[in-house]
Amino acid sequence: MKNIMKRIFAMICVGARPNFMKAAPLLEEMKRAEGFSTFLLHTGQHYDKGMSDAFFKDLGMPRPDGYLGVGSGSHASQTALIMKRFEKTLIGKKPDIVLVVGDVNSTLACSLTAVKMGIAVGHVEAGLRSRDFTMPEEINRLLTDQISELLFTTSIDANENLRAEGIPKDKIFFVGNVMIDTLLRHRNKTKKSGILKALGLAPASGMDKGQKPYAVLTLHRPSNVDSKEPMERIILALITIGKDIPIVFPAHPRTIKMIGAFGMEKQLRRSGIILLPPLGYLDFLALMSGSTFVLTDSGGIQEETTALGIPCITLRNNTERPVTVTEGTNTVVGTDPVRIVREARRILSGKGKSGRIPRLWDGKAALRIVRILKKHFS
Ligand code: UD1
Repeated sequence: MKNIMKRIFAMICVGARPNFMKAAPLLEEMKRAEGFSTFLLHTGQHYDKGMSDAFFKDLGMPRPDGYLGVGSGSHASQTALIMKRFEKTLIGKKPDIVLVVGDVNSTLACSLTAVKMGIAVGHVEAGLRSRDFTMPEEINRLLTDQISELLFTTSIDANENLRAEGIPKDKIFFVGNVMIDTLLRHRNKTKKSGILKALGLAPASGMDKGQKPYAVLTLHRPSNVDSKEPMERIILALITIGKDIPIVFPAHPRTIKMIGAFGMEKQLRRSGIILLPPLGYLDFLALMSGSTFVLTDSGGIQEETTALGIPCITLRNNTERPVTVTEGTNTVVGTDPVRIVREARRILSGKGKSGRIPRLWDGKAALRIVRILKKHFS
């Protein structure tokens, strides 16, 4: 007898910069696999060219099928506006499943809207926990996981977190890391990026005449940039590190705004930091891949540096991605200037962590998710 299978209609939701590289391989795999129709929904949480369009272009992603245009706002108003507008999309489209990625406000808002309409939610990158409730992302992660029907994890510790929160085993799937799928797919293309040449910098692996090794910095967590004190502590460390190695800093719009508000441009210039606007995916990957080390408060960059084998200094007091510390190249140091400088010097003296690639970070996470979805709906 012929097996007649219904097409699975998957709506993939994105909103902010760290979502795009997670959605790209899912879309690709669904297109490749038979039996899926997809709808890419962009909430518009991030809307600047450099925070959104540049990523679609670099990642070769199709234009979103739906755009909610919500923009910035307080947590409540941004979340509420996404829900209000997304509900209309869902009424019109009726997907079989809404897939959300990561932990931004769009992730929670789309999940909550879907589940209240009786539509199944799949959370990609489930189960990560920092146990730090001052982080909006921790609240987004925890709540999204509680209402998801399928939970796709990047590491075994995430499975354990979910089990400890009472989520049944048969909903949880350890599939690997979709963001690393994207990194592995695009790594070769970074050769085309002219960013290092333009800045007169050299990859740590091979220096041409007149080119210099460098470190990379990213900083955008509200806890680090929304008040003056932590930012000053970090800049103090950067001034010292900057004497040993130039630091390239592609800054998030939020951070640029706060640097201006605190009148810190002078201090930054004194530290020798090379301040840049946000970079696209390929330029940033090229920059990160060639660096001696990375300083960051981002979540995803802790994972990308581990995948690249580049030492990472995390400017936070905790991480929801412990596998990057236990297996990878990450060291969590907080914002104490003494600890930041000590770790940077350790790396510069050749004692940085080289780490190993965590299990299933092999470029096939999206493929595993697609197979699980097929089985789930068959
Ligand atoms: C959001 C995510 C965070 C993620 C980060 C990556 C939440 C709660 N936070 O933080 O987890 O690590 O994205 O970038 O969802 N802005 C612009 N242009 C834009 C977008 C934002 O200028 O395209 C400015 C606005 O002033 C805005 C501020 O950045 O108010 C913050 O944007 P928002 O989306 O609220 O949070 P992020 O800090 O970007």
